[in-house]
Amino acid sequence: MNEMKGVILAAGKGSRLYPVTHIIPKPLLPLANRMTLAYAFEKLKEMGVHEICVVVGENENAMKSALGDGSAFGVSLSYVRQPEPKGLAHAVSFTKDFVAGDSFVLYLGDAIYSDGFVELKKRFEESGCANLNLVKSVPDPERFGVANVEGDRIVKLVEKPKQPESNLAMAGLYFFGPQIWEILPDLQPSGRGEFEITDAIQMLIDRGNLVLAGLYEGAWFDTGTLDSFLETSAYLSNNGPMVDETATVTGSIGDKVVIGAGATVECESIEDSVVLPGAKVKVNGTIRHSVFGGEVELGESAQSVILHGDYKG
Ligand code: DAU
Repeated sequence: MNEMKGVILAAGKGSRLYPVTHIIPKPLLPLANRMTLAYAFEKLKEMGVHEICVVVGENENAMKSALGDGSAFGVSLSYVRQPEPKGLAHAVSFTKDFVAGDSFVLYLGDAIYSDGFVELKKRFEESGCANLNLVKSVPDPERFGVANVEGDRIVKLVEKPKQPESNLAMAGLYFFGPQIWEILPDLQPSGRGEFEITDAIQMLIDRGNLVLAGLYEGAWFDTGTLDSFLETSAYLSNNGPMVDETATVTGSIGDKVVIGAGATVECESIEDSVVLPGAKVKVNGTIRHSVFGGEVELGESAQSVILHGDYKG
């Protein structure tokens, strides 16, 4: 049997972190001073997955020049371009030639997990199922794909239901066998106009395939918004502060602060914030709950702002 392959979806626009993500694609943003995707590569390698296809979009050039052939991360990378971000299943459809009939694990490029998936991968392989999905009990299932589970089987899936029938969210990690390729050509866009992976999996179920749930108890973050980006950064830096030894800071440094290599920060105080590598930040006051990159100068305190000095939009 061939080694399982990996597919990472990284074609989103990252618009909720604009303007920083105009300059640095979200999957490349540093979390606790490591690139976001470096955490995904670690989890995949731990599972024995080394051949990985990254689905890129407008960010293609930046992604390729930062990640190259993957050898710096101990993985082998190839790339496909999704012309428009028209949904997770749409993104997956471009990886068919890469996957070439093998099993694959689908990983969302902005997901961070505390725990590994070695056991889950084993379960997928031993069960012979068509698909196994990570699910997690959450307080706000309406924000996610939601699974109805009977025993260890998923029997129904709905994408972001207004009235969720369970509290089990699809947690962004999916194992697939080759059966999915028979489904994707028949998939229709959802109400929000996207080709949903949730709908594709529902079709697998409807056509009689075995689809399993893998309950996940660990911590799970996605880095999509300012709040969740800062929360993930704080988690991975053990609540900080984490200041690179080549950074210079004038002012008091509080909790949940991560300051990257070569950055300089001048302010009264900084807390719950991320300063990207090489940034030059001068704030006449306090900095709270913010992300800064490039050269930024502000005459007053900063709260809940995202700024990048190189963005001239
Ligand atoms: O986070 C888990 C959730 O991810 C699941 O519970 C949902 O069922 C699933 O549909 C998805 O929901 P989101 O609406 O939150 O996905 P989002 O648009 O944030 O995209 C997730 C990642 O996939 C993100 O890193 C960007 C990438 N992506 C997204 C789209 C829509 C692509 O590469 N291409 C795309 O077309």
